[in-house]
Formats: sequence, structure tokens, C-alpha cells
Amino acid sequence: PTVEFGLEAPFSVDYHETIGSTNDRARELAADGAADVAVLADEQTGSRGRLDREWSSPPGGVWVSVVSRPTITPAQAPLYTLAAAVAIAQAAREAGVDARIKWPNDVVVPVGDDGDYRKLAGILTEMEGETDRVDWIVPGIGINANVDADALPEGATSIRDEVGDVDRRRFVQRLLEEFDDYRSDLETVVPAWRDLALTLGQRVRVDRPAGEVVGEAVDITNSGALVIETDDGRQTVSAGDCEHLRPV
Ligand code: BTN
Repeated sequence: PTVEFGLEAPFSVDYHETIGSTNDRARELAADGAADVAVLADEQTGSRGRLDREWSSPPGGVWVSVVSRPTITPAQAPLYTLAAAVAIAQAAREAGVDARIKWPNDVVVPVGDDGDYRKLAGILTEMEGETDRVDWIVPGIGINANVDADALPEGATSIRDEVGDVDRRRFVQRLLEEFDDYRSDLETVVPAWRDLALTLGQRVRVDRPAGEVVGEAVDITNSGALVIETDDGRQTVSAGDCEHLRPV
């Protein structure tokens, strides 16, 4: 069901009280040729996280997957995920939450000054296309909004726990407007991401299939890969290779 959502950004909203996964629904719509649809649910019963991890989606959160058909190459796709992270962090900051981005695409709230954090939001981006062009791309955005952090996995926080409940309609509107601005001007994504990053300047350990990389996170590249200064020189890790990143 498409509902009128009063959005200024060019998205129609496909709203569901309960759904398995907004990403699954968005993939179906994308395969049918849809563009600029935001699939939004109050609750998900089969939501998915990155790397086949579970994701908890109780009623009251913001669970939304956005179908886009941009003219980009697969190499630029990570910028879409970073754009979503920046949009989430900015919408949350407007709501009064001290949201920052943990590379590659977790939105977190810092706890103390040691690089510790609680997770507020995550992104699972899925796409289809050829080697030289993306057909469709769906950033699936999960934000713990009006939910009790107690009902979420350990290490999570929520907008409710940080600052109290938000008007979700207004919040989603700001989120999608921000996302639309960044996806329309991908060159602005990396500078905005740097400004909101919790990871840059931290000493981190990244686990990846080819082994771990330990060192200081000094920058991200124009395509969103993390540059780490190790004892043996600089190494670049792509978001897709990151199984786990933690401050050390
Ligand atoms: C992660 O941090 O691992 C990513 C979590 C992504 C969760 C969102 S909620 C909306 C969309 N639908 C899903 O099934 N997953 C994403």
C-alpha cells in the first residue's frame, strides 16, 4: 500500500504495520522496475543484518529500505551506504542525539572518551547490476527509535533511551530528505562522513577474511574504504571486507 506521507523528497512510501523484512519487499519492488520508493514498517519479523547477522526490529523503530536506480558503477555503491549513514546521523543529531558514525556504516552514540559506543542504527545495502553499472540499489536502514534499549541486543541504544521519543513521521521525512540530498551529489558524501566519524583518529583492529589489520584509522578514500596506518605502512580496507572493527 502506497501512502501519502507529505515528503518533500521524491519518494513514495510503501508502509506496512508488520512485514518480514523491508529489504525483501524493496527487492521485489526493484525487480518490478520501481524507483524512489521507501518501504517503511513499524515492525519486522524477519529482518536481516550485515553478514547474515540477526537484526531486532520491535514496533516503534524506523525500519526503512529505499529503492534507488542511480546511474553509478558498482565501485561507487559504498558511497550510497555512507550517504545513508550520514543522513541517519544528521537526522538523529537534529533530534538531540549525539550520533556519530563508526566505519563503515554503523551509527553509534559514544560512551565516555575511550572510543566506546552503543549502536543506534545499522545499514544493510543490497543491489543488482552489471559489472559497469548498477541496476538498482537498496540501502536498508534500521534505526532504534521509539523502542526500549532493554528490548534490543546488548550494546544497543535507542533514541528513546538517549533523548525520549521522536515524531517518527517527521524524523523519517528529515532522514529521506537528507539521504536524497547526498545521493544526488555523491561528492559531498565523504567530507560529511569525515565530519561525523567516530573511527578516524582511533587505534582499531579490523577483522577481514584475509586476516586482521591493526593500526590508526587515518582517513577514508573517495570510495569509502578505510585507510589504516599500521607498523608496516598504510593499508586500505574496503567496507565489504570488514567483518568486525573495534577500538583497541
Ligand atoms: C547491520 O547493522 O548489520 C545492518 C542492519 C540493517 C537493518 C535494516 S532494518 C530495515 C532493513 N530491513 C532488513 O531486514 N534489514 C534492514
